[in-house]
Amino acid sequence: MDKIKILDKEFRVSLSSSTIQQAVARVASQINADFSGEEVLFISILNGSFMFTADLLKQINLPARISFVKVSSYAGAATSGNVKELIGLNEDISGKNVVIIEDIIDTGITIENIVKQLKAKNPAKLKVASLLFKPEAYLKEMKIDYVGLEIPNLFIVGYGLDYDGYGRNFEDIYVVD
Ligand code: IMP
Ligand code: MG
Repeated sequence: MDKIKILDKEFRVSLSSSTIQQAVARVASQINADFSGEEVLFISILNGSFMFTADLLKQINLPARISFVKVSSYAGAATSGNVKELIGLNEDISGKNVVIIEDIIDTGITIENIVKQLKAKNPAKLKVASLLFKPEAYLKEMKIDYVGLEIPNLFIVGYGLDYDGYGRNFEDIYVVD
């Protein structure tokens, strides 16, 4: 499909499935090389990262474990209005190599938050892998270790990414038309 309609918006193909899969393969080979001979715990951020996670992990040839977490949609901690809680992390990550798997980094607020919370648990190494990165929207200093594709600051859906909950099921990525 070249064009799709979700709710009130029309979208056209922006990144084909084969372009996405090439990006996934590049990220996997970088992680395989960087952690050669070591073990990695992957932490996948739901919901958006589910497709990227599945495709990426099939190409990881390290001793690997995977845990899925969610970021709460409500503001949590008493001290700061915008600290969002990580839900579902049952593993003790101290002394472990951790790679966070994200679908997309836009302003960077979400990932910075997640990194801060995980760093406090004293992992050995902590890296971030994001399939997509919008450099024009990024507001943070933190370097993203593994980026599949840099994209313009436009709204996209597909391959796990949603518009109001819809559109996650497409194998291609679509941009608003
Ligand atoms: P950030 O905190 O601004 O970096 O935003 C990260 C989150 O916003 C991602 O995990 C996505 O859930 C969502 N997001 C950012 N850009 C897009 C987009 O173009 N389409 C769909 N979701 C997006
Ligand atoms: Mg997300």
